[in-house]
Amino acid sequence: MKILILNGPNLNLLGKREPEIYGSDTFEDYFAKLQFKFKDLELEYFQSNIEGELIGKIQEVGFSYDGIVLNAAAYTHTSIGIGDAIKAVTTPVIEVHISNTHKREEFRHVSYISPVARGVILGFGLQSYDLAIQSFL
Ligand code: DQA
Repeated sequence: MKILILNGPNLNLLGKREPEIYGSDTFEDYFAKLQFKFKDLELEYFQSNIEGELIGKIQEVGFSYDGIVLNAAAYTHTSIGIGDAIKAVTTPVIEVHISNTHKREEFRHVSYISPVARGVILGFGLQSYDLAIQSFL
């Protein structure tokens, strides 16, 4: 089973970015733990700060992979283009967030991903990714 973890803008700074919200682990370290835990899966990780690159990656894998775990970060709240890309492909997408966006500023309560995602997992820290992967098993 092939699953892509796709992270959007500023998530390359995990570990140093607002650790009181996002924790102090880097995503690379956490990804190694996921690979160890889900040894039977082919996990791939891609991060970009650029909206078009995220859309390109969804198009690239979206007809052949078994699942996409997507944290579109700030683009969650703005990107009709990412929402349309998810609608266009056949691979199911799980929307994840590290923080509980509904407890935060009002602009984070809007998501262009939720209406086109298979499901949404948020607020469990990095464990949100683990729970999303489990949903594909
Ligand atoms: C986030 C929440 C978003 O509102 C924010 O822009 C992020 C991270 C999260 O994982 O909690 O960059 O997606």
